[in-house]
Amino acid sequence: MKPYEILDGVYYAGVDDYTTHLFEGLWTIPYGVSYNTYIVRGEKTALIDTVSIHKANELLDNIGAIGIDYLVVNHMEPDHSGAIPELAAAFPQMKIVCNQATVAMIKGFYHVDESRCLIIKDTDTLELGHGKTLQFFLTPMVHWPETMMTYLQEDKVLFSGDAFGTFGALQGRIVDVSDCNREVCFQEMRRYYAAIVAKYSRHVQNALAKLNGLSVDYICSTHGPVWHEYVGKVISMYDDMSADRTEKGVVIVYGSMYGNTSAVAEVVARRLAERGISDIRMYNAGNTDMSRILADIWRYKGLVIGGPTYSMNIFPPIEALLRALEIREIPPRVAGAFGSYAWAPNAAKLSAVRMQAMGLDVVGALTMKLAMNAETEQQAVQMADAIADKLSEE
Ligand code: FEO
Repeated sequence: MKPYEILDGVYYAGVDDYTTHLFEGLWTIPYGVSYNTYIVRGEKTALIDTVSIHKANELLDNIGAIGIDYLVVNHMEPDHSGAIPELAAAFPQMKIVCNQATVAMIKGFYHVDESRCLIIKDTDTLELGHGKTLQFFLTPMVHWPETMMTYLQEDKVLFSGDAFGTFGALQGRIVDVSDCNREVCFQEMRRYYAAIVAKYSRHVQNALAKLNGLSVDYICSTHGPVWHEYVGKVISMYDDMSADRTEKGVVIVYGSMYGNTSAVAEVVARRLAERGISDIRMYNAGNTDMSRILADIWRYKGLVIGGPTYSMNIFPPIEALLRALEIREIPPRVAGAFGSYAWAPNAAKLSAVRMQAMGLDVVGALTMKLAMNAETEQQAVQMADAIADKLSEE
């Protein structure tokens, strides 16, 4: 398909993917995903990032007869670098513009010779001619060590790599014009952030501080829409998410085999609602994509997790969630923990220990034997009250 002109001399040439089931082999993508590639045409022409390997032919078809002088590599994760070998072969004179940390990855992943690389340093510029100047900003760990962003000075366009990206294919809408399904976009941005970027939040803050002085009219991410109308909104969202500015609400995640453990979750939720908490998000960890749960955990200040003992260990979906929170170094939350058991209480109690070790403020914990009774119900209500009290102090 021919490239879509975003503004004079700047084009979208990326592709939608509706066939991949799990992004990174992990995360469901019910709305698909886009791999965004951009073309900047001056006297010379630059391509910014590529696409996943299985979409390389589609990218080459999109580029068509346009000659590419430079390939700017903002990020080496293979969903963006996968077509480097095909491009290197198709355009033998093309230079690969990247930073020093990128070179070993290009050689290691794709066996492309270093002599093809034009290595830039932080804030270096590259003149394409005809009033198109690219400037490079190193933004390590947003999302990998080599990540950088590229700024088209004259047109105030920021090619931001994964930052500000969303799950979801573009479905024909490239720029965030008002008919774009933006609520889904923003929801999918939160999910992308929590699943993939959240661990690197302090690096996101560093990048935002570095870019603070730039005037930006367009943000061209590697996934999801080009932001124009909503530039301010998505920068603000990224600042809030990476600085952990949460909303007043509680996420309740449970694992339950026969409904006894989930009954505790129901009591906690009912009491929180009675206490005026309007945003309550309840998830069964056993049948919910982890990224949906993580997105809301990164959004709200309150968190309750519970599950039964299972073969003397934490119930597997809850174990997986706890590990995901540990890996991402979850920021502080007002938390509650509950567990149930038939004969071995140890694993049911262990969730609270793990949550405390993560630095969460565990204000309530209960362990239920077999099934709900009046005492357990009272403990669940007390846990909800402790969380509501704490949230009202925030
Ligand atoms: Fe979309 Fe970190 O790659």
